[in-house]
Amino acid sequence: MLNRLCRNALSKTVLATALTAVMGVSGSVMAANEPGKALAAKAGIPWPAVIAHRGASFNAPEETVPSYTLARELGADYLEMDIQRTKDGVLIALHDDTLERTTNVAEVYPDRAKDPLSSFTLEEIKRLDAGSWFNKAHPDRARASYAGLKILTLDEVIDIAEGGKNKPGLYIETKVPAQFPGVEEDLKKKLEQRGWLSQRPAAEKGHVNVAHSAGRVVLQTFEKPSLELLQKAMPDTPKVLLLWTGDGYIPAASDKTFKDSGAKDKAAFYATQQVKSKEEFAAYLDWAKAHGAIGTGPSAALKNGGDQSYMDLVQPWMNTMAHDRGLIIHPYTVDDAVDFKAISARGVDGFFTNRASELLKFYGRPSKESVESILKRIGY
Ligand code: G3P
Ligand code: CA
Repeated sequence: MLNRLCRNALSKTVLATALTAVMGVSGSVMAANEPGKALAAKAGIPWPAVIAHRGASFNAPEETVPSYTLARELGADYLEMDIQRTKDGVLIALHDDTLERTTNVAEVYPDRAKDPLSSFTLEEIKRLDAGSWFNKAHPDRARASYAGLKILTLDEVIDIAEGGKNKPGLYIETKVPAQFPGVEEDLKKKLEQRGWLSQRPAAEKGHVNVAHSAGRVVLQTFEKPSLELLQKAMPDTPKVLLLWTGDGYIPAASDKTFKDSGAKDKAAFYATQQVKSKEEFAAYLDWAKAHGAIGTGPSAALKNGGDQSYMDLVQPWMNTMAHDRGLIIHPYTVDDAVDFKAISARGVDGFFTNRASELLKFYGRPSKESVESILKRIGY
């Protein structure tokens, strides 16, 4: 029936009325067709959401001043970060649990290059260069001004979130939380101290205003015990359980790991991985919902593969299952228009992206200022 209505090219208003009658729902057709939109609104989370993964990390070294400032200035809804803790108890933003990949730790502390981040004090960490690796890895995006960038504390990321006319929210992951007992409580204390667990001032009209909403902070984790602790510490703050398959996560159809498989291409290997059953997937979502999650962060298999391409956990039936349970869906980590389009068509509610500039274009709200211009303006 809907096809016939569409083929007859009825006006949007007539179609909306017909759909509402057919589906027996009150409210807008958008809400009926886009269940995540209403769920996001309930949690005070923008829909669809642009989550700047480690900042605008395609264009600048991840989780540093230029990556977060660029994301803010572009108009991303959220600054995403991975939280860990130094030896002297300071919360910092860093993805890996060692310093090898994104700093010159091997030059500064040759005997400690493989040591966990948790064995370094803040003062030691602040001696490291967290920008030059990016210039080597991405010569096409390199900038001399990135050399010497510092790893940031959570306080410094919050300063950036608060420091412009756009007021993005914070999308905070407890990274390897088992290495940091009590990190959930530490995070609560810091957010409380900085005034992020209660209502914040509104942005000027025409600017990103997420920090003013109830979804100003979203807490995320892959780890079930951490979700429980986050829920205990901050019951009123929205939480997202990141999805993965395997031991301790969603049971997988095969227990072969990428390492065991002997496969050469990681993305191709993951693309073949399946969850064990629909029932197991449903049970995982039920657990998440029962333990305070308002959403999930599933991995996605990307068209062109690459390092960010994992299991396809955004199959339409999975998304329906999540929405039916009242859970929104923010897949990680998606950077290309071809994937924005294909995965959006399966019904998701935003993306983690390294390329906030491109996702904003895809959602029809491009930044007025180019990446290049912003980077120059902010001193890079
Ligand atoms: O937090 C969402 C996404 O960031 C999960 O992957 O490894 O980049 O933290 P990862
Ligand atoms: Ca993360």
